Amino acid sequence: MNTTWLIKDIRPYGEAAMDLLIRDGVIAELGAEISAAGAERIDGGGLVALPGLVDLHTHLREPGREDAETVQTGARAAALGGFTAVHAMANTDPVADTAGVVEQVWRLGRESGLVDVAPVGAVTVGLGGTQLAELGAMADSAARVRVFSDDGFCVADPALMRRALEYVKAFGGVIAQHAEEPRLTAGAQMNEGIRSAQLGLTGWPAAAEEAIIARDVLLAGHVGSRLHVCHVSTAGSVELLRWAKAKGIDVTAEVTPHHLLLTDDLAATYDPVYKVNPPLRTASDVQALREGLADGTIDAVATDHAPHSVEDKECEWGAARPGMLGLQQALSIVIMTMVESRLLDWRAVADRCSTRPARIGGLVRDGHGTELAEGAPANLVLVDPAARSAVDPAELASRSRNTPYAGMELPGRVVATFLRGRPTVLDGKAQR
Ligand code: DOR
Repeated sequence: MNTTWLIKDIRPYGEAAMDLLIRDGVIAELGAEISAAGAERIDGGGLVALPGLVDLHTHLREPGREDAETVQTGARAAALGGFTAVHAMANTDPVADTAGVVEQVWRLGRESGLVDVAPVGAVTVGLGGTQLAELGAMADSAARVRVFSDDGFCVADPALMRRALEYVKAFGGVIAQHAEEPRLTAGAQMNEGIRSAQLGLTGWPAAAEEAIIARDVLLAGHVGSRLHVCHVSTAGSVELLRWAKAKGIDVTAEVTPHHLLLTDDLAATYDPVYKVNPPLRTASDVQALREGLADGTIDAVATDHAPHSVEDKECEWGAARPGMLGLQQALSIVIMTMVESRLLDWRAVADRCSTRPARIGGLVRDGHGTELAEGAPANLVLVDPAARSAVDPAELASRSRNTPYAGMELPGRVVATFLRGRPTVLDGKAQR
């Protein structure tokens, strides 16, 4: 039986305080002084309520690297971070390039009961970059895949990229490109610039990202298809996206929390926790990314949550795998970089972290990213924006420990998350 929940005194979108009644998985009432006999009662105490967050870019590592993360542990990290849906990237082992693998990941997500897991399908067989994967079969599967990406690798062949863009039009799909011209990043270890020269590490130039974005927006415009750009990291990329959108090209883009906060200065520590792909960039890139997210040129925040085992991460910089955890601290970083700086208000946070990612990923059909309103599915998060606490890697839900935020005092405590009217997090604790 579905429990009825009466949440008193919350502030939807940070606006006027009201009460919210959840019944049968939907928001049954939203207004002043609601009473409901027999309902479980939560005292919201002025918490901010937002629609459940939606991540377009999560690495859950199952199947294949369950030592780093499983769907269950990743789903718990997601729920604790305020997410109700995540897109699971395809670079698993085996690769999610068939209906069988995407259905397996989708089922594991359902079994977690904590978050909806929408598998991303690979664009090319084995992420090999030469042969299109079974995009149609993955779209028709029980997982109903709509986002396709070779993330971790770029679809570098322009003819293949064009064909992929054309193919997914048939079922309203989108190609999410990891924009990295591989010929320009061979052996790269960090952002190419003054810092890489000082440290003697091979650089990953901004132009390697920007060249692919320029190429792909032209291709998307030419064939009239939808393009999504993963983890945008440079000021030049923001400019290109602004130009493409002004031309009417159907392109969307995401930025990660870590690219909104951290810079390539951190490479000087040689601590591989700061190694990530695309790499941390300069302070002026960070500023341009914040501005691009604020003005909507960048549509969404996406975590690129990339758990790695101790063996793969706690070694010398050159040998370490790129990637960092993101799910549990994403909202805190958005609050710190975008809300406290007044670049985004809460409505805009909901737009960039829930509404737009749900639309891009095709998850509105499942009740994600919808307005907090009577009759809407009860997917929501309650957050205390003022509560600050230090990040302790040992306390994270992820199976991995590679957080770049260890020891940082971050604002924003997720107090509760509801998925279809059922709490997945209550009083800051996961319910499974
Ligand atoms: O840093 C990264 N890690 N970037 C990627 O594109 C892939 C990801 C991973 O799978 O670890």
